[in-house]
Amino acid sequence: MSKLGFNAGLAVQAALVTEQAAIAASGMVGMGREKAADQKAVDAMRRALNALDIRGRIVIGEGERDEAPMLYIGEEVGTGRGPEVDIALDPLEGTTLTAKAMPNALAVMAFAPRGGLLFAPDVYMDKVAVGPGYHKGVIDLDKTPADNVKALAKAKGVAETEITVCVLDRSRHKPIIDSLRDIGARVRLITDGDVQGVIATTDPETQTDMYIGQGGAPEGVLAAAALRCIGGQMQGRLHFRNDDEVGRARRVGIDKLDVKYDLEGLASGPTIFAATGVTQGSLLDGVKLRGDRVHTHTLIMNSINGAVQRLRSSRPHTLQG
Ligand code: FBP
Repeated sequence: MSKLGFNAGLAVQAALVTEQAAIAASGMVGMGREKAADQKAVDAMRRALNALDIRGRIVIGEGERDEAPMLYIGEEVGTGRGPEVDIALDPLEGTTLTAKAMPNALAVMAFAPRGGLLFAPDVYMDKVAVGPGYHKGVIDLDKTPADNVKALAKAKGVAETEITVCVLDRSRHKPIIDSLRDIGARVRLITDGDVQGVIATTDPETQTDMYIGQGGAPEGVLAAAALRCIGGQMQGRLHFRNDDEVGRARRVGIDKLDVKYDLEGLASGPTIFAATGVTQGSLLDGVKLRGDRVHTHTLIMNSINGAVQRLRSSRPHTLQG
């Protein structure tokens, strides 16, 4: 692949960007100000992206152009030199987690060549995901949560009571939670942050076997990008609550509204994923200030050579923007 092409070296560049967003957001941990925390992360991520030698186009961003002045869907970023890159980003995944100093807030970004990531509107998505090592089709969005757990338990060779499912703690998920508990499965409830919830299924340390539930569609694409790199299966389907949300889908070119996307439909081809911890979490440590240096912990993955790396960096605090 040429130096200017889309290659694994871009993964380190992506990490530089999520590090900057995480450091900026970390200044707002525990302040109770979701929007201000998000804005800090957005500003820093945009600055860092614009310093990269890429011809970047945002496909998952902060919203549509008229509602998000920065990092909006369709915005072009980078120096305009280098490879064409489609970008999915969430400068602060877990604004409430950050505002309340709760675990697992992340700065997240994915790169793919043009057309490699689904242009997902800012609506909900029904999702189901498992980590690597299972036969294709072990989970299916059209099956009930209980049937998905039964199929996974069989594939894993354990009882259903040994399966742990991560679910966002929302009243809309009560039927899912009840049906999982009815068959004795364990439910790990999270208050926010389902990108982390999906990635957790790939890490045995988290003891999370499956993710089920309805969360943001943009977060669904980001999670799929991560699974493309590390392995696993995921399906998602957009969920529309009103005509305005249907309009959002149409504006990003989605005509068929009830598609059941598999992993490749959400993120296809070579993919790069980077996430830096903002608050302390099960996947990554949060940003820490020690003396005059700021320390970060970043997960970097790419599907080109399959590398999964965890990067610990520190830099003088004064150099942060
Ligand atoms: P924010 O960081 O934008 O607050 O999103 C956090 C999040 O928990 C996502 O991880 C998840 O996909 C979505 O919100 C769920 O939305 P809702 O809070 O409306 O259930």
